[in-house]
Amino acid sequence: MALLERPRRLRRTPALRRIVRETTLDIADFIAPLFIVDGHDILRPISSMPGHAQRSIDHLGSEIDELRTAGITSILLFGIPSEKDAIGSGAWDPAGPVPQAIRRVRREAPEMVVIADVCLCEYTSHGHCGVLSKEGGTVENDPTLELLARASLAYAEAGADIVAPSAMMDGQVAAIRTALDAGGFTDVAILAYGAKFASAFYGPFREAAQSTPQFGDRRSYQMDPANGREALRELQLDADEGADILMVKPAGPYLDILHAASLQFDLPLAAYQVSGEYAMLKAACQNGWLDEERAMFESLIGIKRAGADLIITYFAKEAARAIQLQEAGLV
Ligand code: PBG
Repeated sequence: MALLERPRRLRRTPALRRIVRETTLDIADFIAPLFIVDGHDILRPISSMPGHAQRSIDHLGSEIDELRTAGITSILLFGIPSEKDAIGSGAWDPAGPVPQAIRRVRREAPEMVVIADVCLCEYTSHGHCGVLSKEGGTVENDPTLELLARASLAYAEAGADIVAPSAMMDGQVAAIRTALDAGGFTDVAILAYGAKFASAFYGPFREAAQSTPQFGDRRSYQMDPANGREALRELQLDADEGADILMVKPAGPYLDILHAASLQFDLPLAAYQVSGEYAMLKAACQNGWLDEERAMFESLIGIKRAGADLIITYFAKEAARAIQLQEAGLV
């Protein structure tokens, strides 16, 4: 008996598969995270994230060159200051690592989209994303807003195109939008980490950014992995507060939320394939347990297919290079 449908016919050759492909990765989808440290001549590899390092400003230029050559058009900057304090004042220091890096990239690669992560955890001595109550036990939402706004202004002044608040404080997008507008930075956009979950997959990042909380955890401000509807509500709030781009983070374990968000919101949607997702794949590949290129692309195409327009990923450079080779017909 003849089958009504024979989808297999369309899978016979690479060219057939290509013309019916529903999702493709574009190098312009990728955002490459970079870790900038205070100091000189520092290039400190991050052991759990092969291929990534903490770098001082003098080691930034060569990395930017490599990213540009690979076709990467946007970067996300994290700063690691030499001194931390209780309120994270290094976050808005115009001579801090991130403002310095922004100025450098603006000068050397003016076309690059520069995104600055806005959070206090890399800058506070206690490692939390906001300031603590007097008793010291809890993170205070409202007093933190003003500090996040101050940091955003410092990055805008240095020349950032986009600020990306990741502290998960309620009202952070509105506070930052108000401060940016008042400072004359109406053109600086906000990428809101709207649905950011309290995730075990941030482990390697905390080594990279030296931002592990000294006590407790982030569950009072980051989201419960069990809550999908609440994630959409959080994203809605950020959209209402003026976010220009919404983000779901991590990516892999939250593809359902990414998909729901892509149907619900008429804003560009970003996904953050976080440090632990990268570390996991790298470790398995280094052991020869997975084929690296295939595993990398499968994880990225899954994120794109779920609905992400942009992907922040530690694979950015590697994936871009592989796409360049494919497009040149070399593989
Ligand atoms: C800052 C921040 C974190 C990440 C991005 N911004 C860490 C955290 O919340 O602990 C994690 C990114 C990654 O794991 O790659 N709050």
